[in-house]
Amino acid sequence: MTAQPLIAGNWKMNGSTAQAKALAGDLAARAKGAAGPLPRIALCPPAGLISTVAAAVAGSVVAVGAQDCHAKEKGAHTGDTSAVLLKDLGCTYVIVGHSERRADHGETNEAVRTKAEAALAAGLTPIICVGETEAERDAGKAADVVRSQVSGSVPAKSTAANTVIAYEPVWAIGTGRTPTPDDVKAMHAVARETYGKAHADGADLAILYGGSVKGSNAATLLAVAGVDGALVGGASLDAADFWTIIINAPKR
Ligand code: PGA
Repeated sequence: MTAQPLIAGNWKMNGSTAQAKALAGDLAARAKGAAGPLPRIALCPPAGLISTVAAAVAGSVVAVGAQDCHAKEKGAHTGDTSAVLLKDLGCTYVIVGHSERRADHGETNEAVRTKAEAALAAGLTPIICVGETEAERDAGKAADVVRSQVSGSVPAKSTAANTVIAYEPVWAIGTGRTPTPDDVKAMHAVARETYGKAHADGADLAILYGGSVKGSNAATLLAVAGVDGALVGGASLDAADFWTIIINAPKR
């Protein structure tokens, strides 16, 4: 088995019900009309729009994901959403450990791992995010940071069949800047090797690249060895641009 490519759109804190219906509906229609083989496709809207998006993509290959979950199944955690509820709402995926969550909410590797474990227990596929800051890269620590994030954030129970990793250099997110293909290749190799030290199926794990992926650079970034798809922020809010990324996903 080799990883089945995945293109996931992270809408972040954007969108209304009307916009979500239009954007998800547009994408579902494109997917239904597609001639060739498609990668796995997921839309990750804000929690309040999950039901709207799930209804809009029903009957298409487009899956739904969330942007975060709580580590516990239920209980006194005001404002949080359990992985169990996300599954009930129609999610297949949940992003955990996005750098914005790590920065804004102080999420540690341990916190991210427990969220990923909750996702697995609920039958969701966690998309576990890792990636260095610009200061860490400048200090020559990018590989070390990603090694410790992968070893600290990925559950022991993860397999290539139930987990996805996204390598997202923090300095490339929302900035229009991207690493060179050689840097992407090297960092994906670091993530894969680290995962492989604790898991038997490293060769089959889907590792996505994220950070300023758009239609105009998708072909280059998605052709890099070891890149199994993309986690897309800004460009996923534009159906035509997101579709260009989807059709440039590796074919396998
Ligand atoms: P971006 O965001 O595509 O807007 O850079 C990527 C991400 O944060 O997942």
